[in-house]
Amino acid sequence: MADAAKRPVHSGEHYGQRVFSHLRPDETDRLEALGQALDPNTFRRLERLPMRDDWHCLEIGAGLGTTAHWLADRCPRGRIVATDIDTRLFPHPDTRNGWEALEHDVTHDEFPNGSFHLIHARWVFSHLPSRDADLLRVARWLAPGGWLVIEDLAQFPLESSPNPLYRKVSLAMCVAVEKRIGTDCTWARNLPAPLRAAGLIDVGTEVSADCVGPGPMGRFWQLSAEQLAADLQHSFEIPSTELDRFLAEIRGGTFIDLCLATVAAWGRRPE
Ligand SMILES: C[S@@+](CC[C@H](N)C(=O)[O-])C[C@H]1O[C@@H](n2cnc3c(N)ncnc32)[C@H](O)[C@@H]1O
Repeated sequence: MADAAKRPVHSGEHYGQRVFSHLRPDETDRLEALGQALDPNTFRRLERLPMRDDWHCLEIGAGLGTTAHWLADRCPRGRIVATDIDTRLFPHPDTRNGWEALEHDVTHDEFPNGSFHLIHARWVFSHLPSRDADLLRVARWLAPGGWLVIEDLAQFPLESSPNPLYRKVSLAMCVAVEKRIGTDCTWARNLPAPLRAAGLIDVGTEVSADCVGPGPMGRFWQLSAEQLAADLQHSFEIPSTELDRFLAEIRGGTFIDLCLATVAAWGRRPE
C-alpha cells in the first residue's frame, strides 16, 4: 500500500475504471491491433494535407504513438507533441522517435492558441464527457491555416448487422463502454458539423470500416469483448453460453462482419 501511495498518479489509471486501463497487460495488444487496423487509412488521409517538413503537430490521445511516429518522419524539421492522459505505453526514451511525449488531459489542460499546423485525434473525442466544448477549445490551438483532423468511432455498422448474436453482443459492448467510460459511440455520426461550428473552413469527411474477422480489427474486438466480459454478463444479462458462442465465432477463422466505423473529418482554420 505504501508503494502504491508513493507512485505518481496517472489519471489514465482511472480511465474506464480499469477497463481499457494502460496498466492491463493485454491493453498494449489491444491498442497495437487497433493501430494496425486503422493506421493505413489515417496515414492516407494525412498524406492528402499540404504537409511541410517544418510543421508543428499535435497528436491527442496518442495511445502507443504510431501516428506521432509517422508524423515525426514527415516533419523532421518541425515539432511533434504526442499527448495522452497516460503516456506509459509510449516508447521510451520519449524522444527516440523524434517526438515529445506529454501527459496531458485534453479536457482540462491547455496549449497556447495558434500553436499547431496540424492537430489529429483518433478514437479519443467520443470518450470525452465534454467532447463538443473540448473540440471548440482544441480548434483554437490551430495556427492560422492549420488543419484539425478528427477520426472517431461510430456504431452504425453494428446496428444494421445481419447477424443477430453479433449485433446484440457488439451493441451491448457499446453500452458497456458508455457506462464505464462515458463513451458515446454515436457522437462521430455528427461529424463533420462540429468542425464547421468551430469556425473551420474547407471541411470534408470520409467514412471507413474494417471487418471483425481474421486480421487486426477482429483481434481488437475480441480483446475488447474479453475486457468487458464481466459487464456484459452482469449488467446486460448476456448469458455465458451466448458470450462464449460470440467469442468462439469472432476468434474462429470464418466469421466476417463490419466492426465500428471510423468517421474522419477535417477542416482548416482561416488564414
Ligand atoms: C481508443 S484509444 C486510441 C489510441 C490512439 N489514438 C489510436 O487510435 O491508436 C483512446 C486513447 O485516448 C486516451 N485518452 C482518453 N481520455 C483522454 C483525455 N482526457 N486526454 C488525453 N487522452 C485521453 C486514452 O488514454 C487512450 O490512449
